[in-house]
Amino acid sequence: SEPLRLGIAGLGTVGAGVIKIVRQKANLLAERSGRPIEIVAVSARNRDKDRGVSLSGYDWEDDPVALATRPDVDVLVELMGGSDGPAKAATEAAIAAGKDVVTANKAMLAHHGHALALAAEQAGSVIRFEAAVAGGIPVIKALTEGLAGNEITRVMGVMNGTCNYILTRMQSAGLPYDEVFAEADKLGYLEADPELDVGGIDAGHKLSLLAAIAYGVQVDFASVALEGIHRITKEDIKQASDMGYRIKLLGVAQMTGRGLEQRMSPCLVPDTSPLGQLEGGTNMVVIEGDHVGQIVLRGAGAGEGPTASAVMGDVIDIARGIRFSTFGRPATGLVKAAPAMGTSP
Ligand code: NAP
Ligand code: HSE
Repeated sequence: SEPLRLGIAGLGTVGAGVIKIVRQKANLLAERSGRPIEIVAVSARNRDKDRGVSLSGYDWEDDPVALATRPDVDVLVELMGGSDGPAKAATEAAIAAGKDVVTANKAMLAHHGHALALAAEQAGSVIRFEAAVAGGIPVIKALTEGLAGNEITRVMGVMNGTCNYILTRMQSAGLPYDEVFAEADKLGYLEADPELDVGGIDAGHKLSLLAAIAYGVQVDFASVALEGIHRITKEDIKQASDMGYRIKLLGVAQMTGRGLEQRMSPCLVPDTSPLGQLEGGTNMVVIEGDHVGQIVLRGAGAGEGPTASAVMGDVIDIARGIRFSTFGRPATGLVKAAPAMGTSP
C-alpha cells in the first residue's frame, strides 16, 4: 500500500526523537498503520549540525515552507517551535496545499489554534497536536476519544515539568527560588526564554488547549488568568509544608455559569494527594467527566522519547485514515470563553 510521506521541520530534541522512532520501528509502524511511514525531507537552520541521528535518504530543505509544500510530502511534522515565524508560516502553507499537519507547538496553537483549525477544516486537512500538551501523556486522545461520551466538568493539572522541578526541589532541599532556578538552568531544563516556564505561560498555553478540547470552545489563551512561580519563597513552601500542603503550579479549567474559567497559578494541594506527591519534572492531568468520574493521568511531560511518542501517535492515526482534527468542530459549536476570575488558588 501507499506510504505516508512525512516532511519534518525542526531537528532538535523532538525532531531527532521522531526520526529515531521512524528509523528503528519501521516494521512495527507499518504493521500498526496498515502502510509504511516514510520521511522524505527534513529542514532545520543548520544543515551541518550533528543531530545524533542519520539523515541519509532524506532530502534537505533550507526553507520550512518549501518543505511543507513539496508535492511528495503528505504530512508536515512541525517541530521548530515559536508562536509565529517559520512554524506558523510552514503550518499555514501546508494547510493551504492540502497537507495534514502534526505539531508539538503549544505556543503557536494557543495563539493561532482557532484560525489554523478553521483553515484546516476549509482545506480538508487534519491538524493534530497530542505532543503539545503534557508531552508523552496521551491526554488529548483521552479527551477526544476515550471520554467522548462525557461532559467534562473539570480539567486540572501540573503541566510544566520545569516549574514542578523547581518547586519540588525548593521543598525537599529547603533552597531559595534563585538557587534552584540557577540549578534548573544548569541542567538545561529551562526554555530559551525562561519566563515561558516560570511565568506560567507555557503551562497556560497547554491549559488553553485542553480547555478548548474539553469544552468545545475556541482556544482563548488571552483569557487564562496567569500567575507564575517567581514570587514563591522558601518560607512560603515551609509554611505550606507545616500545614500539610505542597505548592504546585496548578492549572484549572472549568465551565461555570459565567462561561469557561481558566486559571494557571501556584496553589496549595494536600501533600498526600496525587498532585501533592508529584515529584521532579513529571506532569499530571486530572480530568473529571459526568459519567466517568475522576481520571488521573501521570507521566513524562517533556523529553525526546516521550514527546516523539506523542507525535508518532498522531502520525499513525493519520496513516490509518483517521480524519478528525484535534479541534474536532472548529466551525460550529463555538462559544467565546469568559474571562477567568482572579488568580487566588
Ligand atoms: P529544539 O531542540 O530547540 O529544536 C528546534 C529545531 O527547530 C532545531 O532543529 C532548529 O534548527 C529548528 N529551527 C528553529 N528555527 C528554525 C527556522 N527558522 N527554520 C528552520 N528550522 C528552524 O526544540 P524542541 O525541544 O525539539 O521542541 C520542538 C517543539 O516541540 C517546540 O514547539 C516545543 O515547544 C515542543 N515540545 C518540546 C518538548 C521537549 O521536551 N523538548 C516537549 C513538548 C513539546 P537547528 O537545529 O539547525 O538550530
Ligand atoms: N518547558 C516545558 C516543561 C517543556 O518544562 O514542561 C515541555 O513542554
